[in-house]
Amino acid sequence: MKELETLRSELMSAVEKAGSLDDLEKIRVSALGKKGRITELMKGLGGMDPDSRKQAGQSLNALKAEIADAIEAKKRASADSELEARLARESVDVTLPVRPESEGYIHPISQTIDEVVAILGEMGLGVAEGPDIEDDWHNFTALNIPPDHPARQEHDTFYLPGAGDDDRLVLRTHTSPVQIRTMMTAEPPIRIIVPGRTYRCDYDATHSPMFHQVEGLVVDETTHMGHLKGCIIDFCRAFFDVDDLPVRFRPSYFPFTEPSAEVDIGCTREGGEFRIGHGDDWLEILGSGMVNAKVLENCNIDSTKYQGFAFGMGIERLAMLKYGIPDLRTFYESDLRWLRHYGFGALQVPSMVGGL
Ligand code: PHE
Repeated sequence: MKELETLRSELMSAVEKAGSLDDLEKIRVSALGKKGRITELMKGLGGMDPDSRKQAGQSLNALKAEIADAIEAKKRASADSELEARLARESVDVTLPVRPESEGYIHPISQTIDEVVAILGEMGLGVAEGPDIEDDWHNFTALNIPPDHPARQEHDTFYLPGAGDDDRLVLRTHTSPVQIRTMMTAEPPIRIIVPGRTYRCDYDATHSPMFHQVEGLVVDETTHMGHLKGCIIDFCRAFFDVDDLPVRFRPSYFPFTEPSAEVDIGCTREGGEFRIGHGDDWLEILGSGMVNAKVLENCNIDSTKYQGFAFGMGIERLAMLKYGIPDLRTFYESDLRWLRHYGFGALQVPSMVGGL
């Protein structure tokens, strides 16, 4: 017992004097570790007679708990004081310049989609989406492009392997199948814009096998060609930020619209310099028309009651024209220098009122 009392006061005073967390850990190991003094004494219990073992066991357990508590309490106290000392010692120099952080850029395709969506969104059109992998019916047949139609050749379609001719899967060649998907599920009035990826087997400075389009579709009882023209003229002027931009509708042909028109905007190519909105030259930028009655009927919409207009345009082409990007292939090269040059910072919220 005496021995235990001596050990107790020895350990307690060591804990008392310990100046650091390290010292405390050493004391803990020397007393309570595998070969610690209290642990060794506990190992000796086995050789005692039952009565003395019981008594000594209780005292040893009590001592063990007391020392462990004392070490814990002291550890907490010294951790606090070490932290306080560090806080007092160290200070933050708020006059130092901030570390440079590398900033991300918005890709011109994302920026252009945002602008188009913002402008047409203000006119009341909401974004709709559809799958990149389409079936033949949505991509062609329902849009009045039957299997032997020459327009199928023009699309340079990527066909997926498998399935027979009628239910082939394709990578959609335009965003127009989303017109079909929307008209099949929604009741008119319908007012949508469809930005998305499209695919055609073509590759040069102005064509890429994967590119982006935006489709517009409006269907209502009184929708007419005047709405189509107003919507597209306002869109072109807002997008290119030229209030008096000349816009021309040129008769054309698409199987899914009747009548159809291609849309040109005024530009000049004088002296090798290309500029939008000035001069007497024209540049084609999109396809449009009144939704063909056959397409409405294919979607179970009564063509004697409803009429609609639709338009479709290439996003890359719009971006190249607006931001002077000469080669379409560079859009997909993921070259950071290119992105730093042509990309956009955040917080450029486009709007029809007040410009972009
Ligand atoms: N889908 C046509 C194309 O890809 C564009 C278009 C859409 C034309 C809607 C008229 C109406 O060329």
